[in-house]
Amino acid sequence: MNILILGSGGREHTFAWKIAQSKRLNKLFVAPGNSGTEAIAENLNLSVTDFEGIKTAVIQKNIDLVVVGPEDPLVQGIHDFFLQDEAIKHISIIGPQKAAAELEGSKEFAKEFMMRHNVPTAAYQSFTKETVEAGYKFLESLNAPYVLKADGLAAGKGVLILNDLDEAKAELKSMLVDAKFGNASNKVVIEEFLDGIELSCFVLTDGKDYKILPTAKDYKRIGEGDTGLNTGGMGAISPVPFATKDFLDKIESRIVKPTVEGLKKDNLPYVGFIFIGIIKVGDEPKVIEYNVRMGDPETEVVLPRLKTDLVEILQAMANQTLFEVKIEIDDRAATTIMLVSGGYPETYEKGKKITGLDTIEDSIIFHAGAKFLDGNVVTSGGRVMAITSYGETYHEAIKKSYQSIENLNFDKMYYRKDIGFDL
Ligand code: AMP
Ligand code: GLY
Repeated sequence: MNILILGSGGREHTFAWKIAQSKRLNKLFVAPGNSGTEAIAENLNLSVTDFEGIKTAVIQKNIDLVVVGPEDPLVQGIHDFFLQDEAIKHISIIGPQKAAAELEGSKEFAKEFMMRHNVPTAAYQSFTKETVEAGYKFLESLNAPYVLKADGLAAGKGVLILNDLDEAKAELKSMLVDAKFGNASNKVVIEEFLDGIELSCFVLTDGKDYKILPTAKDYKRIGEGDTGLNTGGMGAISPVPFATKDFLDKIESRIVKPTVEGLKKDNLPYVGFIFIGIIKVGDEPKVIEYNVRMGDPETEVVLPRLKTDLVEILQAMANQTLFEVKIEIDDRAATTIMLVSGGYPETYEKGKKITGLDTIEDSIIFHAGAKFLDGNVVTSGGRVMAITSYGETYHEAIKKSYQSIENLNFDKMYYRKDIGFDL
């Protein structure tokens, strides 16, 4: 079959790498892709939210199945766009329809869903411009730290955690009244602060059944020791050492099952990946957030551990026969380290030549913000590439990634040297 992957990050290069290994694949396309995907697939110069352009490409290139990488096209309704068009309604789309994508598109929607289906999560209330005074009162009733979340998509910047009550009130006003995050902060969810260690759980569903993929832990802060600004993710490890069998059973029975059942009860059509951000409070898992896609850089450690043919899985998801598929996982650990442009996540320079790529033997390089220019691979984004390695333990895998990085270079290259420090 012919497959199109939408997106341009390390996540999408990893999907392309895994899909390219399948005997079921005829031709692979990525839109818009990067230098990594260009080496193994045909890149199409299209934005992931250009639905008309994607439709034209799907028809021209005889594409049978589309894997949607990032959340934006899903929240904007790409799946519904296909279903509503006679010419392309038969194409399989991996990603939920718009109504279900609200699990990521609206924090309030996600919280209400969790309440309705008894999924454990932090206590909360939501507020608008009109109820900002009640918001101040609610903040006064809580203990620090205060967690404020813009309801809508805010490019990963919409969550604020503040220690000072007055600062929390000022931020609440700035979000609701001064539209700090534009329309995304028309509503703000204020949450109880949960103290614990986080992990990411990945579920695939065809709307009827589900399968659970390996857990992963990502490192979001730019600085060592988890300090400094939030990023898209600086590294990841799979499996998560503290996710014991007992803890994973709790995640499945209390979170995954009620979530998939809840989607059915609420008539929210879902064929795709569910990424559940979980925090371990004592021995109990609680949901921090839902995402309606795979994580990045978690994908760079989860898919390399998947032994089963990914195209077989994607077809089963689209055909609602997921219950027939056996998911096989590599016992080895996988880790990834992100190389980023100096200055990221604030301003940084692009167009830096990356050297040493041909010398790497013990790791897999997944390109992210990188492109071909005049025969060279050059930087084109903040997160540039993810260096993934396997090991019998995660220590061994991390060591291999760091050894590989010794041979890679570009001007102002930065990476965290402490991935896994807290485990
Ligand atoms: P989110 O965008 O909802 O994933 O939030 C971003 C980050 O904020 C999460 O990964 C957590 O580290 C943190 N966070 C979110 N909600 C809470 C909470 N209720 N308690 C503690 N930390 C939180
Ligand atoms: N690594 C976190 C995310 O993809 O949202």
